[in-house]
Amino acid sequence: MEGIEYLYELCEALPRSGPGDNECTRRAFNSIPRHSKHPFILDIGCGQGMQTIELAKISNGKIMALDNHQGFLDTLMDRTKNEEFEENIIPQNMSMLDMNFEEKTFDIIWSEGALYFMGFQNGLKRCHQLLKDKGYLAVTELVYTVSNPPNTVVEYFGSEYPDIKNIEEKIETIKKEEFNLISNFTLPESAWLNNYYLPMEKELRRLNKKYQGNEVALAIFEAFKSEADFYRKFSNFYGYEFFIMQKK
Ligand SMILES: C[S@@+](CC[C@H](N)C(=O)[O-])C[C@H]1O[C@@H](n2cnc3c(N)ncnc32)[C@H](O)[C@@H]1O
Repeated sequence: MEGIEYLYELCEALPRSGPGDNECTRRAFNSIPRHSKHPFILDIGCGQGMQTIELAKISNGKIMALDNHQGFLDTLMDRTKNEEFEENIIPQNMSMLDMNFEEKTFDIIWSEGALYFMGFQNGLKRCHQLLKDKGYLAVTELVYTVSNPPNTVVEYFGSEYPDIKNIEEKIETIKKEEFNLISNFTLPESAWLNNYYLPMEKELRRLNKKYQGNEVALAIFEAFKSEADFYRKFSNFYGYEFFIMQKK
């Protein structure tokens, strides 16, 4: 993608690179009924790792933080410096498309706002292979939160994210891929705004000035701004759903 460095510059300055917050991460983790005392967790597409750090605080486990952008992993490790859980986070620069771990390696796999890079269904398949028997998978995924979203929204996602479906259809896919759904909940609007769109809009004002005259950079920033504007108008119709499931 031309100008991807501007995207990274923007995202690295934010608390996280997608919707979410620590409260939702905790709620999802606490809905896992039983897991080993020191679970081995894979966090796919961890970004700068807000959820990785939260998991390290609450899980007593080791977390492999996997992303294919070194800048995010560096930011994550800076944020963990001198924390008591620093040693429990293992940064891994690797594409989720090339994960070469042995089958049945992980107790828990986590992925907030990232599994879609593999395609939701393919991602479930791959996680199923990498999870130990009866292991857990927790993911957030973009969904329609109503049964009949307006045409404007359907057209928008037709090009932005054609794999978007309603919650029931995603649950069907989860069952098809041999998981039992344990629980699911929709992220609140605050999880989109507080750690993501609000700091992004602030950062965009700074970057638009910094890159005045740079058409590539400005087009990328404009696309992010439009996405935030679209969310503000149509957030009643779509959102992120947290799905917590267990391998059958
Ligand atoms: C929307 S961000 C979510 C980041 C983080 N989980 C969060 O919620 O803040 C998606 C992340 O997936 C990473 N990513 C994209 N394609 C990837 C790939 N093929 N392999 C590994 N990570 C990838 C990006 O670098 C980015 O950090």
